[in-house]
Amino acid sequence: MISWEQSINIKTPQEIEIMREAGRINAEALQAAVSLIEPGVTTAELNAAFEAVHRQYGVYSPFKNYPGPYPYPASICTSVNEELVHGIPGDRKLEEGDIVSIDCGTVYQGFVGDMAVTVGVGEISPDAQRLIKATEHALKLAIANLVTNNTIGDIGFAVQTYVENQGYHVTRMYTGHGVGRKMHEGPQVPNYGKPGWGIRLREGMTIALEPMVLVGTPDTVVKADQWTVASADGSLTAHFEHTVAVTADGPMILTLLNEN
Ligand code: MF3
Ligand code: CO
Repeated sequence: MISWEQSINIKTPQEIEIMREAGRINAEALQAAVSLIEPGVTTAELNAAFEAVHRQYGVYSPFKNYPGPYPYPASICTSVNEELVHGIPGDRKLEEGDIVSIDCGTVYQGFVGDMAVTVGVGEISPDAQRLIKATEHALKLAIANLVTNNTIGDIGFAVQTYVENQGYHVTRMYTGHGVGRKMHEGPQVPNYGKPGWGIRLREGMTIALEPMVLVGTPDTVVKADQWTVASADGSLTAHFEHTVAVTADGPMILTLLNEN
């Protein structure tokens, strides 16, 4: 997300297994929130459903109190329509036709899982459906490129090329990131780039890949609450994210609901 300079930490296979459990619990808590999405539900209720699953497992969110303009006040981010990332849950009621992204994290045995999805509320427009599908596909392409000997730029290139061919834009301001004992480790992983740019991927790296896609412009603004990031032109946006390990057998998604 914002901007940091952090070291890249290589994980052992045992650490990756712990991260897979962090990711699985994160996906389960996310599912509890997603299953509540319908017209009339508030974004605070989604946060509460997520936290209820966390309490069952005795785990917590790395988002809560994350340093920023003021400590981040919730366990998830809920970003509606033109809001791209970092929307704060509250009294806002979701309405038929909205699209909402839920971004969430879980710390389990000292390791972080980080994930986001964008979901329609009730029936949504064909334009909104196409945006969501394209953003999810951009994440698939990013994951497919998370292989040894590829570089960070190869990932960004794949995402940017696809997204722009669909007529959309990628953010330049916010990026994916290494993830492990901390939510934000190196390297930063932009959603744009050129083949061969940046460092080379190595076995044991664990990366949060997160395409953030905007319909009308790559430019963003921060709203009055100082956290919520929205498209500068008010156009729709979408965001998907998985935590993924680089392994000898290729990319291993760590934020899946079911072991497979
Ligand atoms: N998934 C987001 C990220 O990668 C979530 C951070 S929100 C914050 O940066 F509140 F924790 F900052
Ligand atoms: Co992230």
